Amino acid sequence: MTRRSVALLGATGSVGTQALDVLRRERERFDLVAIAAGTSVDRLAQVAREFAVPRVGVARAEDASALRALLAGGVEIVVGESGLAELAASADIVINAVVGFAGLPVTMSALAAGKRLALANKESLIAAAPLVAAVRETPGAEILPIDSEHCAIHQCLASSHEPGHPDVRRLLLTASGGPFRGWSRERLRDATLADALRHPTWTMGPKITIDSSTLMNKGLEVLEASALFGVDVGRVDVVVHPQSIVHSMVEYVDGSVIAQLSAPDMRLPIAYCLGLPERLDHAWGALDFAAGVSLTFEAPDVGAFPALGLAYGAAKRAGAAPAWLSAANEVAVAACLDGRLAWSEVVAVVAEVMDHYEDDPLKSLEDLVANDAAARRLAAASVARRS
Ligand SMILES: NC(=O)c1ccc[n+]([C@@H]2O[C@H](COP(=O)([O-])OP(=O)(O)OC[C@H]3O[C@@H](n4cnc5c(N)ncnc54)[C@H](OP(=O)(O)O)[C@@H]3O)[C@@H](O)[C@H]2O)c1
Repeated sequence: MTRRSVALLGATGSVGTQALDVLRRERERFDLVAIAAGTSVDRLAQVAREFAVPRVGVARAEDASALRALLAGGVEIVVGESGLAELAASADIVINAVVGFAGLPVTMSALAAGKRLALANKESLIAAAPLVAAVRETPGAEILPIDSEHCAIHQCLASSHEPGHPDVRRLLLTASGGPFRGWSRERLRDATLADALRHPTWTMGPKITIDSSTLMNKGLEVLEASALFGVDVGRVDVVVHPQSIVHSMVEYVDGSVIAQLSAPDMRLPIAYCLGLPERLDHAWGALDFAAGVSLTFEAPDVGAFPALGLAYGAAKRAGAAPAWLSAANEVAVAACLDGRLAWSEVVAVVAEVMDHYEDDPLKSLEDLVANDAAARRLAAASVARRS
């Protein structure tokens, strides 16, 4: 494999830390040439020193001087959205591990520069789907999904023998069901933030952990799958699989179902996105079938978890509707994590915001930013009324 340069944006988070673990063991193949985070200056400096990274980005100008004091001269420091965009155009492979809408400059810039985008930041793809579809046509640009479900589907689609996959009947996204699987609507009214943060199978950052508890994460993943693989959401189904071993499946028109299995370990999809067309030799997530592996599947409880229905609804309306859904959810989840909003109100805020949405075809980046801001304003007002 030829040596390739990597930019890791969102280097201090859950996906970022696991990506560093992969890169640490693959120093022969990959050069880490750029990292960025929001405000975790100490951690960024540590990573920059460990990997001798020449370019580092932070979200705010006031953190740049603190970072400068921690780093040796010669390291270039960039700031804010324009800094993120610059770093995202600077390497062969760009890992977008930023959380939320803040990851948008990374997605757009990496694709516009014709890079391989290893995408964990689903929010940017969901909010900007029509704009991403256009910039993805740039020669050399490709998106490989780090999200384990979509990485699984990417692997399962290799069994399709025809371009455009007309032989695929449907994509089956698996969901662990989160910490509240089996809870009734009544019981969910008393669910606490502490309960919600106890994910049964994955250890992740705080936002996606809350999204998993409301099943909004699965709703966002339905939108993500549709945008990534060009499949109408009517052909993307969700099935609850509490063991998180089957990461997703593709059903073909002849009835064959192809699945990808492993123990839950994000280093596997990260390594897949870095290595393709080769597989990196680490056996992350390897299973011991002889020790007994049980797999069960059930339908999601769409009555108790209305987030899934909201996501399918936003997908059908298309345009800026997914951007509204994702923005409202970000505001509600942040308020829940801050203790300003009860867990049981998070999806209610999103539903209220979506009631105000009027169709907008989403033609430009400016249009997207305006839609994102409008949905955030409505969500903040809804949170304030419920606090
Ligand atoms: N965690 C998982 O296992 C997992 C699995 C599948 C998909 N994903 C997706 O991957 C993304 C990251 O998730 P995560 O769980 O790793 O989140 P996380 O642990 O909260 O980490 C978020 C990262 O984004 C950085 N960041 C936040 N705002 C930023 C800004 N304005 N500019 C630059 N960097 C910024 C953070 O920096 P600071 O530390 O300075 O705040 C941190 O490095 C999300 O979209 C999530 O849905 C995660």
